[in-house]
Amino acid sequence: MMPKSPENLRSHRWFGVNDLRSFGHRSRLLQMGYERADFMGKPVIGIFNTWSDINPCHAHFKVRVEEVKRGIWQAGGFPLELPAMTLSEPFQKPTTMLYRNFLAMEVEEGMRSYPIDGAVLMGGCDKTGPALLMGALSADLPAIFVPAGPMLRGNWRGKVLGSGSDTWKYWDEKRAGNITEADWREMEQGIARSHGTCMTMGTAATMMSVIEAMGFSLPGSSSIPAPDSNHPRMASESGRRIVEMVWEDLLPSKIVTPAAIDNAISVHQAMGGSTNGIIHILAMAHRAGLDLTLERFDKISQRVPVIANVRPSGTMLMEDFYYAGGLTALMAELGDLIDGSCLTASGRTLGEGLAGAAVHNADVIRPLSNPVYPRGGTAVLKGNLAPDGAVMKPSAAEPRFLKHRGPALVFDSYAEMKATVESDDLDVTVDHVLVLRNAGPQGGPGMPEWGMLPIPKKLVRQGVRDMLRLSDARMSGTSYGACVLHIAPESHVGGPLALVRNGDFIVLDVEARRLDLDVDEATLARRRAEWIPREPRLARGYGAMFARHVSQANEGCDFDFLAAGPPLPEPEIY
Ligand code: FES
Ligand code: MG
Repeated sequence: MMPKSPENLRSHRWFGVNDLRSFGHRSRLLQMGYERADFMGKPVIGIFNTWSDINPCHAHFKVRVEEVKRGIWQAGGFPLELPAMTLSEPFQKPTTMLYRNFLAMEVEEGMRSYPIDGAVLMGGCDKTGPALLMGALSADLPAIFVPAGPMLRGNWRGKVLGSGSDTWKYWDEKRAGNITEADWREMEQGIARSHGTCMTMGTAATMMSVIEAMGFSLPGSSSIPAPDSNHPRMASESGRRIVEMVWEDLLPSKIVTPAAIDNAISVHQAMGGSTNGIIHILAMAHRAGLDLTLERFDKISQRVPVIANVRPSGTMLMEDFYYAGGLTALMAELGDLIDGSCLTASGRTLGEGLAGAAVHNADVIRPLSNPVYPRGGTAVLKGNLAPDGAVMKPSAAEPRFLKHRGPALVFDSYAEMKATVESDDLDVTVDHVLVLRNAGPQGGPGMPEWGMLPIPKKLVRQGVRDMLRLSDARMSGTSYGACVLHIAPESHVGGPLALVRNGDFIVLDVEARRLDLDVDEATLARRRAEWIPREPRLARGYGAMFARHVSQANEGCDFDFLAAGPPLPEPEIY
């Protein structure tokens, strides 16, 4: 017998009882043209759809949601679409990260306040996935994630173009005078050829894979390109499945275990995932009430190699990854590095979902014996410059910077840095360490993706393409280079980054996991005493609330009041 019956569905309290209020609820559904038989005694499925005209990565969700609904009807559920705030990475400023917790709250409160028995979460573009999951984890009602899927490969004169990565690359070629304005215009037409998310290993591909590995999507979902006809079939199947999940009472809290989080981190590592993923996995684990610290990422990174040959760590794109077998093939390749016993949204274990998975192209999904990057793809650094930690992706950096000592060139704002790096007589060498501060969770605000600081133009002309760069910002997963990110605590709240001065020597030793400022403690103490706290960046509105409640990067940048706690009571219905 199923754990749930029509009488103990959450929505029964709205529709199934016989009182004044339920009369209103039923009559209001009838108002929309539904029959009693359409919804009475059926699981009500809320579809949180982050479709918007301003989100190209989710353009197909306007149609895809109908395919989700078809599945829900087929399985005997009642679908209700709930449009949710979109977080459109290209357009939302200063950064979508400022609004991740906003969407998470919208989802949690939407699930709690409406007659929802289960939810379909439609997202993909960078912060949407973690935001939707964070909300569902807090609400702890059955939920399944339908990933938007990556767009097709870019194309320019027969050359394959990758989202983000090639924009940065060719921008530098343009600055160096190697390509023309007309070439640049042509690329603009070829780099994004279909709907769907970035098809490099940006935050979107990273998080869609991580969420599947955590158990919240049907097996293989995350790798299907958005325009592929397998994608709408996956959407319908997810719709059918969520109805069963409600009857089975398959709650997120039964899916997210320490082992599931380890699987997520292992996949993050094996994919050469975006550094943003670290913050999101921390936030999701904490929502589920689990202990997780940065050290776990470093530890798992020591045993899991990068085997997805996808840019920027590798050379291919997500479309190639799908044809090579996709995420299920990658997880099968990881073998014992994945705990196959974890329960997933499919109702089966993660391991059962890998049955029959095989790699079809061993250059794209590499065997463990021939990885793209052997081990340590994510390094967690500590030292007097980052007492609470910083992260780096050594696989995306020129190896010579992994052990480096150089003088600091410090910028207090992005605007200052942008104006300075274009100057021809800037006193800078390839050995300098570029430092950007006041770009953290509060200083940014929202920790913008400014961490891949531009190489000064003078050096670009000399052929320099990488330098050691430090910040309390994040960087896009499509970025690359020797960039140390997420320095915590951030400078805005008085972290040691605030004390660095031009010419100070900075020492990075990735192997020793150290990041230090080579300045004696007495001098630092003096500077600390002289340091003047900065005003909050946003004095009113949502930004003011953000600044008051956001945690530092090493804790996941969630709001303190959204942290896991005792379950909230169900709303009263009068
Ligand atoms: Fe949406 Fe990259 S901009 S996924
Ligand atoms: Mg991105």
